[in-house]
Amino acid sequence: MKNILKSFMMCTAALMMAGATISCNQEESKIIKTDIPVRPAGQQDVLGLRTPALDTVRIAFVGLGGRGSFAVYRYTSVPWTKIVALCDIEPDRVQKNVDFLAEKGIEVKATYTGDEGFKTMCQRDDIDLVYICTDWKNHAPIALYALEHGKHAAIEVPSATSLDECWALVNAAEKNRRHCMMLENCCYDFFEMSALQMARNGVFGEVLHAEGSYHHNLTDYWDGYWRNWRLEFNSKHKGDIYPTHGLGPVCQALNIHRGDRLKTLVAMETKSNNGVESVKRYQGVDMPEFQNGDETCTMISTEKGKTILIQHDVMTPRPYDRMYQLVGTRGYAAKYPVEMYSLSREKMDEIGIEYDENFNIHGPLSEEQVKDLYAKYPSPILDNDLEELAKRVGGHGGMDFLMDYRLIYCLHNGLPLDMDVYDLAEWCCISELGAISIANGSAPVEVPDFTRGAWDKVNGFSYAFADGSFK
Ligand SMILES: NC(=O)c1ccc[n+]([C@@H]2O[C@H](COP(=O)([O-])OP(=O)(O)OC[C@H]3O[C@@H](n4cnc5c(N)ncnc54)[C@H](O)[C@@H]3O)[C@@H](O)[C@H]2O)c1
Repeated sequence: MKNILKSFMMCTAALMMAGATISCNQEESKIIKTDIPVRPAGQQDVLGLRTPALDTVRIAFVGLGGRGSFAVYRYTSVPWTKIVALCDIEPDRVQKNVDFLAEKGIEVKATYTGDEGFKTMCQRDDIDLVYICTDWKNHAPIALYALEHGKHAAIEVPSATSLDECWALVNAAEKNRRHCMMLENCCYDFFEMSALQMARNGVFGEVLHAEGSYHHNLTDYWDGYWRNWRLEFNSKHKGDIYPTHGLGPVCQALNIHRGDRLKTLVAMETKSNNGVESVKRYQGVDMPEFQNGDETCTMISTEKGKTILIQHDVMTPRPYDRMYQLVGTRGYAAKYPVEMYSLSREKMDEIGIEYDENFNIHGPLSEEQVKDLYAKYPSPILDNDLEELAKRVGGHGGMDFLMDYRLIYCLHNGLPLDMDVYDLAEWCCISELGAISIANGSAPVEVPDFTRGAWDKVNGFSYAFADGSFK
């Protein structure tokens, strides 16, 4: 009786805080479930979606702050593209980018400003892709409008801020048969791509556990965001509100919705100390009710018995860190805080990595051994020319350019994208689900299956290529 009551109270609290439709099954009384909307009649999943190949991908950018302007710069080097339109609420930000492109000899056909300029822009019939770099609250509304007007949508991280937005984007992509991709650049970091290739080839045995994080001290940066959107969002929301840099790459290594799926999560947070101080420093306001904990931890279990730990901390002096750690039955990879690999002797014998009698199973592989590993498992999407171009154009060492290149390569060739709308929803839903868990004493919360039953239809993560192969 006590348990049932506790469960009821937990669900009631969650309902009140999240606004999501939640049910508690008394047989699994400790797991909180959120509503999975029925797929509308006639609609099908978009796993492996192919759309007609585009000779030139005609792009419109929305949101031309720091990130959007940098994307415009990168796209001056991405092949098979044409920048057709630019849009920002603020006219001076549009003009700055028009001027920049003019200096490069690129004339922009159309520009849009104001709160709803993006709507007029999406009504044009000469745009294939809407590339969205606004603040978080504007991501999903703009993407939904673009999808409904027959455009593909590429959206900065996190693309959705709530379960409702995740489901709306999934439904819009399915209904309109258009790509909707989150711009998760960390999936294209050279370390993550190499380790992914090793994981796919069984170098670590079976990957059992993975860790990812966003530790990035933003203390000195809060006032750089347009109309203070980021600190304001942090002040109003609990949970890991920026989970995708940590979660995206490890989900690829764990084949999430390609043979496994995220099942349940629990989340915990510290109190907010530095968040409260930041509001005082930047806005001169006392805000004891600041919502986001200085550090939030989320643990996720998968259908196939794996675990993932995701952490979020944008408040403390902890050095920048995305963790990216894979723990397998035969090996280990870590990008942060120190890059390292380690393998069992059996695995090194099997794949031909040399070691001598002094080999210490408690330590990492040597530089030479790691070089050998990289030589044996190159990422299939890289060749020397592309790697050189990516590093020259830049964007977090080249990963931003590689992400853009792969997005356009796939659209140009009519191929499935590396990341689909289900990745977007799975990686973004963690925020609201974590908030529900925290509001209920860190109770387990079910992660919805956004594919609605097709999570094991695709066999493992792969990249598509123009010759018809998947590697
Ligand atoms: N992937 C990465 O490594 C990375 C790095 C930085 C930022 N980001 C993401 O990029 C996005 C933008 O961040 P930022 O630092 O450029 O923010 P910013 O505050 O510098 O810029 C946001 C811009 O969006 C515009 N905007 C807002 N609503 C709009 C609307 N309805 N129509 C047109 N324009 C609108 C604003 O006028 C502003 O120019 C965020 O989602 C952020 O999380 C990602």
